[in-house]
Amino acid sequence: MATIRVGLIGFGMMGRMQAEGCFRALGDRFRIVCVCDDYPSHLEEARALLGTGMVAYYSDWRRMLEDCEFDLAAIVTPDHLHEEMALECLRKGRHLRLEKPMALDPAGCRRIAEEAKRSGKVVQIGLELRYAELTDIMREAAKGTGRTKMLWCSEFRHPFLAKPGSVPDWNLRRKYSGGTLVEKCCHHFDLFNLFAGARPISVYASGDGETEYPHTNILDNAFATVEYGNGIRANLSLCMFAPRKAKQEHLTELAFGILGSAGRIEMRDDKLFVWDRPTGSERRFAHQREDGIGHNDEITPSLLDLAACIEEGRTPQADIRAGFNSVLVSWAAELSAAEKRVVTIEEVERRFDAPWME
Ligand SMILES: NC(=O)c1ccc[n+]([C@@H]2O[C@H](COP(=O)([O-])OP(=O)(O)OC[C@H]3O[C@@H](n4cnc5c(N)ncnc54)[C@H](O)[C@@H]3O)[C@@H](O)[C@H]2O)c1
Repeated sequence: MATIRVGLIGFGMMGRMQAEGCFRALGDRFRIVCVCDDYPSHLEEARALLGTGMVAYYSDWRRMLEDCEFDLAAIVTPDHLHEEMALECLRKGRHLRLEKPMALDPAGCRRIAEEAKRSGKVVQIGLELRYAELTDIMREAAKGTGRTKMLWCSEFRHPFLAKPGSVPDWNLRRKYSGGTLVEKCCHHFDLFNLFAGARPISVYASGDGETEYPHTNILDNAFATVEYGNGIRANLSLCMFAPRKAKQEHLTELAFGILGSAGRIEMRDDKLFVWDRPTGSERRFAHQREDGIGHNDEITPSLLDLAACIEEGRTPQADIRAGFNSVLVSWAAELSAAEKRVVTIEEVERRFDAPWME
């Protein structure tokens, strides 16, 4: 099994975490051969972490693509750069590990999907909740809860962390991130799409940014309801100014639930409860790790899937379809909250000439 040579673009919070915690830990499958960041102190940090012997460093990603031989581009830059970088990397014959959201809007996702098809390269989107152990258990448990009727998700967390890179605090501005419901909640909408297993029909979202982000144009709290073609309703509650969980048992940061005709599944951070409606019995699962679902340890299994897909020419679990469809719903939610009206998915599909991917 050949080692996959990785070119990492973006050495901020997530790029550093991937380099240190994930690619290095999977040293038999991946080897970082070049790193690019146009913020000098982040490039210095990369040098300090990865050394100068085997790794080349660049401040210009296009030059890195020309100069350096590598198999997989890991794009970990602010969201507005994803599309341009992804397209160019695919054109230059690289496989992609592309952070979420896949692009700022559905048209950008469509262009990446088209280029990926032309190139025949493997593309994985950083929707790693698909790889969480508890997501797997929920999928299994959902087979026994009858007809799914309701999905719900709540994330009550601390505000976005400060971003000191070359596009400082990009996540606080919609033109760089697509807005909170795109940047942050594409993860949640992806889980809704996964568990609903049907086309979404419409979204109604309501929110504001007055508490945490009064001087910028992003939301800090919102409710969003998605209706699916098979009758499932999914509701997201987001708050970005709740206190940090900080190991306080009574505070739940991320929760996800499935309510079906024959039972109920509820995940609260690192614990999962399954109730069987006919018998009233309850089963409880505990996550192996303390930090629970929704944290970056899901990236390691996602990278193992990616390595196998590159080797076998398969499509990853977090594929282009998942990336695209999550942005379609997220974008509809942003539009709904901005214009205070129900937005149909059809409207967004038409606007971007970007239909839902079956
Ligand atoms: N999957 C997840 O759970 C998860 C979690 C956090 C962040 N992310 C995603 O990861 C990406 C990066 O987020 P982050 O938190 O690391 O942000 P960050 O701001 O900490 O890091 C981004 C880095 O990209 C660099 N950069 C900016 N423009 C560049 C350019 N033209 N060329 C080279 N480097 C450039 C910046 O200098 C910075 O070092 C975002 O897309 C974000 O949505 C995903």
